[in-house]
Amino acid sequence: MKEGSVRVAIFGAGGAGRAHSRRFARHGGARVVCYFDPKHQGDIEGIPVRKVIEEIWPEVDAVSVCTPDDTHADYAAQALDAGKAVLIEKPMVGSVSQLPRLEAARARHPAAVLAVHHQMRFVPAFAAAIRRVHSGELGPIGYVAANYWHDMRSRARQFDDWRLTGKGQSVLFGAACHPVDLILHLLDEEPVEVSACAGKLLYPEYAGAYTLVQATLRFPCGAIGSIHANNCARFPQFNDLVILGERGSLCDNLRYIPGEGFQLLKGDMVDRHATAGAGTVLNLFKRLLVRRHELRRPPFSVYDHEAACSRIIDNFINACRGQEAVLVPFDEAARVVRVCEAAERSLRLNRPVRLDER
Ligand SMILES: NC(=O)c1ccc[n+]([C@@H]2O[C@H](COP(=O)([O-])OP(=O)(O)OC[C@H]3O[C@@H](n4cnc5c(N)ncnc54)[C@H](O)[C@@H]3O)[C@@H](O)[C@H]2O)c1
Repeated sequence: MKEGSVRVAIFGAGGAGRAHSRRFARHGGARVVCYFDPKHQGDIEGIPVRKVIEEIWPEVDAVSVCTPDDTHADYAAQALDAGKAVLIEKPMVGSVSQLPRLEAARARHPAAVLAVHHQMRFVPAFAAAIRRVHSGELGPIGYVAANYWHDMRSRARQFDDWRLTGKGQSVLFGAACHPVDLILHLLDEEPVEVSACAGKLLYPEYAGAYTLVQATLRFPCGAIGSIHANNCARFPQFNDLVILGERGSLCDNLRYIPGEGFQLLKGDMVDRHATAGAGTVLNLFKRLLVRRHELRRPPFSVYDHEAACSRIIDNFINACRGQEAVLVPFDEAARVVRVCEAAERSLRLNRPVRLDER
């Protein structure tokens, strides 16, 4: 569709689905028509919740898939076959074995808009770091490290229990996929080898096999990537990025180049809070602190969730209207899935795993 308001159905009326709904509503070019969620009773803030998918197709142009990870491929494929544009929350699929289902649907509808919600590379401070790496300012990159800490103890039971039952949510697919996407995008390469270790000393009651995971990625260019993700840190949500280059280095928004010294990449960090929630007392307080101290100070990371997610939603709407290319397409999300799967295999086999290994 190229004109008019994009009519959207949100699959999954939980935390991600409701956040998408708010962001779609904020963009003048979209309207959330309904949710699809068989487990939810009643409307949500005046938006009906449907339980029969077929009733939704005539009502909408686009679908945003915000359901548990293992359901993404099937819902996205159904929506593509119904002629809808599709946005899929990360991870794009819950395992590599689910990729062919989605790939086949994509092949049947090559012109359809298909986007994936990997927002980490659009965090303003990280986007600025990526621009600096891609411009060559830091020279060849030897090492990149990214952390993702998110205590899910209460969040995991807020809307549904899928993270707390069965195999739970894989911390590699559900959390580490964020720093994996960030590092792959930054280096613009897929690693040749992944080595992972994991633990469950913290949050032992979680359903998944582990709650803390560490992975080392070896890239064809010679760079090393280091990733840590957990769903149990007793700390506010935290993400950071360290880049060591031949000419200089970056720690979040602090750049160091020998001879030039430290430079705080101020504008990249502080001028992008004009998104939803910016008016809340907490956000005003954060902005004051950021301006006051200028550097990240616990518990405030440079991670600006709202700005990053809004960029994805706005891009999806603009892509539906033929105004912008999709920022995170299938192929880029598929390589993240392959890396997460290789890391899971490394955990099972207790050794490094090559990505081309069968
Ligand atoms: N990009 C991000 O930062 C981010 C943040 C949160 C969640 N997510 C992703 O969004 C997805 C949903 O996570 P969440 O935190 O919103 O979960 P949640 O538990 O908050 O909500 C899940 C919702 O899906 C519904 N649901 C469960 N099974 C369903 C099914 N088979 N069909 C339709 N609906 C079903 C539940 O009733 C619930 O309303 C996950 O893939 C997660 O990884 C991404």
